[in-house]
Amino acid sequence: MEYLYCKDDNFQDFASGRVLYGGKGIPNFPIRLLLEIYGRALERSNKKEDLVIYDPCCGGGYSLTILGYFQNKYIRKIYGSDIDEDMVAHAKKNISLLTDVALKKRKAEIEELYNSYGKESHKEALDSCDKLSIMLGNDISTEIFQADCTMPLPEILPDIIITDVPYGNLVEWEQGKNSMDAMLEQLWRISHENTILAVCMDKKQKINCEKWERLEKQNIGKRKFEIYKK
Ligand SMILES: C[S@@+](CC[C@H](N)C(=O)[O-])C[C@H]1O[C@@H](n2cnc3c(N)ncnc32)[C@H](O)[C@@H]1O
Repeated sequence: MEYLYCKDDNFQDFASGRVLYGGKGIPNFPIRLLLEIYGRALERSNKKEDLVIYDPCCGGGYSLTILGYFQNKYIRKIYGSDIDEDMVAHAKKNISLLTDVALKKRKAEIEELYNSYGKESHKEALDSCDKLSIMLGNDISTEIFQADCTMPLPEILPDIIITDVPYGNLVEWEQGKNSMDAMLEQLWRISHENTILAVCMDKKQKINCEKWERLEKQNIGKRKFEIYKK
């Protein structure tokens, strides 16, 4: 696949655990691929700013937080949900880093670590905090909640849904075999007529939901992503 929306770059300022909170069992996602999928979804959207985005399997909120930084000017509201209570708590911490106050608090936390241990990695993380701070400007409203996305969801009316569904090795679907189609059905119900849906999954997974119209499909390594419109 040719990258059209994101050049090859060094994304180390966004490495999980550096400024953004990471940890054992907390999933993350390749940033270049995320920004590429989002770019392709946005291209299909008839709305380009003031956007409402939603990730129904948000894990620790890594992808949503990255999008909040890179697409800061264009996003009005970010929703994220996950079935797992601990992931939701983690996602709330990460997404809070889209505010100046929380980012300053995080910087103070890292400063304390640097003063105690003098590690180079902490010094680098402090530099990253400054770089992240420059990317903020727009006050994005955020809402993270616990929900099983195969069951009825609140009527969010997102412009773009972007999600990286469970693969089976690190995280499993928690609701049996037809979870993918059940999720698509629920997402259809909470979308508006121009919602764009981008789903990233393991190559073995299949989508059989006739309600969504597929616009694009791309394979990339062990993964694939598909883009749909309502
Ligand atoms: C691959 S991870 C998502 C990673 C995330 N995009 C990120 O950036 O960190 C998949 C997530 O789906 C969640 N999950 C599994 N079954 C679910 C369900 N039925 N409803 C909602 N979330 C579910 C898991 O708890 C896990 O956090």
